[in-house]
Amino acid sequence: MKPRVFSAMQPTSDSLQLGNYLGALVQWVKLQDTHDAIYGVVDLHALTVAPEPQQLRDRTRATAAQFLAAGVDPERSIVFVQSHVPEHAELAWLLSTYTGMGEAGRMTQFKDKSAKVGESGTNVGLFTYPILMAADILLYDTDLVPVGEDQRQHLELSRDLAERLNTRLGEGTVVVPDAHIVEATAKIYDLQEPTKKMSKSSVSPKGTIEILEDPKKIAKNIKSAATDSDTVIAFDRESKAGVSNLLTIYSALDGRSVEQLVADYEGKMYGHLKVDVADVVVEYLTPIREAALDWIESPDRLDAVLADGAAKARTIASATLDRLYDRVGLVPPTPGR
Ligand code: TYM
Repeated sequence: MKPRVFSAMQPTSDSLQLGNYLGALVQWVKLQDTHDAIYGVVDLHALTVAPEPQQLRDRTRATAAQFLAAGVDPERSIVFVQSHVPEHAELAWLLSTYTGMGEAGRMTQFKDKSAKVGESGTNVGLFTYPILMAADILLYDTDLVPVGEDQRQHLELSRDLAERLNTRLGEGTVVVPDAHIVEATAKIYDLQEPTKKMSKSSVSPKGTIEILEDPKKIAKNIKSAATDSDTVIAFDRESKAGVSNLLTIYSALDGRSVEQLVADYEGKMYGHLKVDVADVVVEYLTPIREAALDWIESPDRLDAVLADGAAKARTIASATLDRLYDRVGLVPPTPGR
């Protein structure tokens, strides 16, 4: 049996951004060759930011469409929507009874997000968010979780919870998952503020490269990326955050190493680098964008893939939940189960 990989994305934007793609999706596609892969659109997580209902529906489908367009193959991998598999919410409840208040309160993403909206705007779901994420992972006996750097701490919590379950309920209760974070692309930065990560919810749309965006707009954003007052093309995250980010993106899509690119661009201007990065990004994303738009325009076909994925995911998830319910001492609803 192949080892299992699980990962997921929130449908919190009309389009994924290049960080989602380079930090995670590229790895998802690769890992299908060696792993038994399960990829989810985590719509229950997205509820923590109070989305408009129709917008949430559209974004859920658009997110799944982008997984498929990027090369996630539903013949080989399970692609599904989290709310179609009720075991996620059920396991999250169980795990919440194993999570300390202090432990959940230490999550930096919660602290950042709640600081942004203030106490009155912070819902309890935002606080328990990482517990639902642990449920996503542990339900599938996951070995490996490909994510970007910003999910590292959440992954640690999932591991701690898995170890706790195994200690309290017996070895082999759940699999302890490992994070799969590829250093070079684990954090893609905002084009306008290259010390901040690129984000779907960025306040400055000019700083983001959206996969479904018009290619002309993508090129324009890259060409107006913030750099520095120096002129030498070199990789240095401290003093040349903007240029380093462009080199990271370029290298990830073009295949040349950052060192090679620096050598190739010796004596050239920042403007030259930007034009070339824009070309590479547009060339790379155009077929993905077109394939995603095709899927979005055939919602019935897309929904069929997602229904099939949910049925397969549920078979695995319900077996894990039965095992856990039994170990914690819940009486089974059907005699003899
Ligand atoms: P989300 O939806 O914010 O992001 C999806 C994936 O993209 C990665 N990512 C980035 N990588 C590099 N550079 C960036 N600028 C960048 N921005 C985002 C994220 O690290 C992530 O891998 N909590 C998760 C969703 C989730 C999940 C899970 C992930 C829910 N359950 C179970 C893995 C396993 C999230 O909000 O990702």
